[in-house]
Amino acid sequence: MSGFVQWSLILLMMLTATTAKTATILRVADTQPANYPTVIALQHMAERVAEMSDGELTLKIYPARQLGEEKDTILATLFGAIDINRVSSAPLGTMVPELQLLGLPYLFENQEHFYRVIEGEIGEEILKFLEPHGMVGLSYLTAGARSFYSTRPIRTPADLKGMKVRVQNTDLYLDMVEHLGGNATPMSFGQVYESLITGVIDAAENNWPSYVSTRHLEAANYYSLDTHTMVPEVIVISRARWQRLNANEQQILKTAAKEATQLMRQLWEQRVKEAQVAAAKAGVTVIDDIDLTAFADAVAPLYQPFEQNPTYAALIKRIREAAND
Ligand code: GCU
Repeated sequence: MSGFVQWSLILLMMLTATTAKTATILRVADTQPANYPTVIALQHMAERVAEMSDGELTLKIYPARQLGEEKDTILATLFGAIDINRVSSAPLGTMVPELQLLGLPYLFENQEHFYRVIEGEIGEEILKFLEPHGMVGLSYLTAGARSFYSTRPIRTPADLKGMKVRVQNTDLYLDMVEHLGGNATPMSFGQVYESLITGVIDAAENNWPSYVSTRHLEAANYYSLDTHTMVPEVIVISRARWQRLNANEQQILKTAAKEATQLMRQLWEQRVKEAQVAAAKAGVTVIDDIDLTAFADAVAPLYQPFEQNPTYAALIKRIREAAND
């Protein structure tokens, strides 16, 4: 063996050994199925992280609730058993009220207003509130607007009377449905399909892509365009893990998560259209003659407890003002 070849081999072995020693695998949880836009955005994030870190950071994604429902994966993230978590901001909001603010009904005027907030200073400031709770917020992803879907048409809040409506596990949405006159039933995302099929609930609420990907449309085939909330998705990392990463690795994760936000913008628009086509084919009736003022008026009191806190009130004001920027 020539000296050159020998040295090359030794170098290669050293390099492999170094990689083996320092490569860090980060476990990533997502409740949505593998082909859902949030998971595709995470896959892109994983590719970019691998590229930027020369393979030293690897994201291993567990979609489709493999690591549990969101309330469980959030706890696992706090304790560091899960490194990165893509979750709805609603269950995070039970611990961090500032995040819940973003999910207040009829807060955003349109999708552009929403993007301006989550991609701007206000969004970053709100993510910082996660840190004392054991998590570091990397970025947001859009989840569009959520609307009610049901076994019967919903046009006005009065139509919700007597309906059992699934909400995410937070008091805010329990109160929202109660204010609208329905019977709120908080439950995990994974339980909704069976509960609709068996008649345990009559209605639920979500965005178009979730409505279709979960097959909830099989049981609840009226989708009412009341667009009551725009609840963002958040990519968080366990603070325990974050503190063990160096500044360069932290930067790589932050950059890749922000790129995921941008990719999600395109994926989302496309996926909403596809979901609407799929729903139409499945015989879903879209209700668009909605009494939006009645909905907004009924849920307006939900702002009161937040408005009483000066920090939250200031944030709400700034979010609203961002509509005109
Ligand atoms: C959204 C979101 C999920 C969440 C679900 C829910 O679709 O993507 O993360 O779990 O709503 O309603 O619980």
